[in-house]
Amino acid sequence: MVSFDAERLIEWVRSLELVKRGAESEIRVGSFMGLEAVFKLRVPKPYMDPELDLELRSFRTRREAKAMAAAISGGVRAPRVYAVFPSAGLIVMERIKGPLLKERLQVHGDHGHLLHEAGGMLARLHRAGLVHGDPTTSNYIVAETGMLYLIDYGLSSFSTSIEDRAVDIHLFRRALESTHATIAQEAFTNFMEGYKRVMGEEAGKVEERAEEIRLRGRYVEKRRTIWGRTL
Ligand SMILES: Nc1ncnc2c1ncn2[C@@H]1O[C@H](COP(=O)(O)OP(=O)(O)O)[C@@H](O)[C@H]1O
Ligand SMILES: [Mg+2]
Repeated sequence: MVSFDAERLIEWVRSLELVKRGAESEIRVGSFMGLEAVFKLRVPKPYMDPELDLELRSFRTRREAKAMAAAISGGVRAPRVYAVFPSAGLIVMERIKGPLLKERLQVHGDHGHLLHEAGGMLARLHRAGLVHGDPTTSNYIVAETGMLYLIDYGLSSFSTSIEDRAVDIHLFRRALESTHATIAQEAFTNFMEGYKRVMGEEAGKVEERAEEIRLRGRYVEKRRTIWGRTL
């Protein structure tokens, strides 16, 4: 019997065109069974114990692919999963062509509908029993069709807790404030309108908690200035 050779697969994937290199993964593009695909590869870390490294990469790869599949089942627009190779740290997925939401927001214009949609999509993910873990404007793609996609489930987990949901909201708000300062407030209002429309009554508690988290952060900042040093 010929066993699956992860190393050879990795070698082949690494011959594909590299489009982005993240902290943990490489994003390459190529063709998979005739489909334009993105190859997200968690690369081995040479300084780590090989066995532990393999275990971590395969665990995270499986977790991410599971979250993507669950998101899609829950009605979230996410890239379709074409194939998963945990032992190679590889997910092959649908390639979504188009700019990141971050790039779109940098172009002047009325982005109300996009932000509304972004909020609605996060709510749909929450209703599907997941939290995203890293909902920034770099993790939404505005497809050429005009439709918005939520990507990057690398930090996602299955949770329905108010705190975890509120952290998602807080992270998106912080992302807006740090990269789109001039439109942040209006953008966040639009985002929350979309979130509430899909989430319904439960949204109130999540919104309140997100505000609490924000104030906790402020409190830390205030202490920082009192003590006059960086924590
Ligand atoms: N399915 C996809 N289609 C098109 N571009 C993608 C896709 N997945 C990732 N990308 C691009 O690669 C970047 C990094 O991918 P991401 O999954 O966010 O990895 P990381 O965990 O390193 O942030 C994204 O910001 C996006 O530009
Ligand atoms: Mg990302």
